[in-house]
Amino acid sequence: MPENKDYRLVVKTLYGLEEILSKELLALGGREIKKLNRAVSVVGDLGYVYKINLALRTGLRVLLPLAEFEMEDVEHYYEELLAIPWEEHFDVNTTFAVDVVGRNEQLNHSSFAGLKAKDAIVDRFRDKIGDRPTVERGTPEVPIHIHIYQDTIRVYLDASGDSLHKRGYRLAAARAPLNEVLAAGIIMHSKWNGGMPVLDPMCGSGTFLVEAALIAHNMPPNIYRQYFGFHFWKGFDEDLYEKIKDGLLGRAKEYDGKIFGRDLDDYALDAAADNIERSMFDDVIRLKRADFFQTDPPSEKGLMLVNPPYNVRIAANTHKFYREMGDMLKREYAGWTVMWITSDLEAIKSIGLRPSRKWNLFNGELECKLLQFDMYEGTKKIHKLR
Ligand SMILES: C[S@@+](CC[C@H](N)C(=O)[O-])C[C@H]1O[C@@H](n2cnc3c(N)ncnc32)[C@H](O)[C@@H]1O
Repeated sequence: MPENKDYRLVVKTLYGLEEILSKELLALGGREIKKLNRAVSVVGDLGYVYKINLALRTGLRVLLPLAEFEMEDVEHYYEELLAIPWEEHFDVNTTFAVDVVGRNEQLNHSSFAGLKAKDAIVDRFRDKIGDRPTVERGTPEVPIHIHIYQDTIRVYLDASGDSLHKRGYRLAAARAPLNEVLAAGIIMHSKWNGGMPVLDPMCGSGTFLVEAALIAHNMPPNIYRQYFGFHFWKGFDEDLYEKIKDGLLGRAKEYDGKIFGRDLDDYALDAAADNIERSMFDDVIRLKRADFFQTDPPSEKGLMLVNPPYNVRIAANTHKFYREMGDMLKREYAGWTVMWITSDLEAIKSIGLRPSRKWNLFNGELECKLLQFDMYEGTKKIHKLR
């Protein structure tokens, strides 16, 4: 794959993070950025592909286009896929898998479209090399994506391999964790720049805490990853990759602020401690066992990031819980900005505070609202007058 060639890449993301991802891609040197649904397309070369895999906070996958064609029938689809020089892209000893999104009249089942594509790839290798690569469904070294939209077929190599939300630091799990990409997107929606202390009073496995520490230090979030999809491509340029990695690490900043994590569950705190140690941010993140309703704020003002129980994966009387949380915010948290995500759209009404901004997001399959509350001194007074 030539290094100086430009590609129109597709970077996938979560619903509601397209704008933030576009800004990230621009800041990293991308060109001709176009927002799509749950994705952004951008032009860049192979060095840019390495860079964005390491540095993006709100990207899930980086896809590099290999072919695009209008299919006539199933035989033609197979022939077009057979014509792609797969053996120039990856070695016969590398594992692969085909993932298909979409369908049309002739390819009306994604598993059929995937099977046909796999046959074409295997046949191509047999013909050119005399041997075939192995299909690995779970964690293939080279994932291949096929997008079907009516008769248009787009074929991509997945430059990320595993999804980019798998940063590499969060190996210990607590209940109902937030996707790391979503956590980073929420912090970026708040426009926090490291200036104020951060508190997650219900931190679970510590996702917000580590993502905030990564942002505060301007650290590329995927620096802990051992490899990406492109590591298995023929012609992977290790020297260029290491240079880009060093360049990104060279932009890391000192941070002398504080990030506070609290939870009342020991199991969650153990998982958080484990993940934070792996992230190497144990010097800036302070963990404490605490009940939100029984504990004072850790500082006069700050940014609160909170992902309380939704009554889906963790059972809770959310109406009562959210009302009491709202009361606590009014009483104790004047001066704080609160970013609150929940899928319990009914219980939101019990919070008793008016959000200054709100966004629609998805936490996995769950439709969520992200609410921003600015807790002014006045909020407290108004509450007292009631
Ligand atoms: C949805 S989980 C948070 C998951 C977390 N964002 C993560 O990424 O792992 C909600 C957390 O709230 C905690 N929690 C519930 N009630 C609490 C309270 N009164 N005080 C502190 N933590 C509480 C639970 O123990 C649980 O870890």
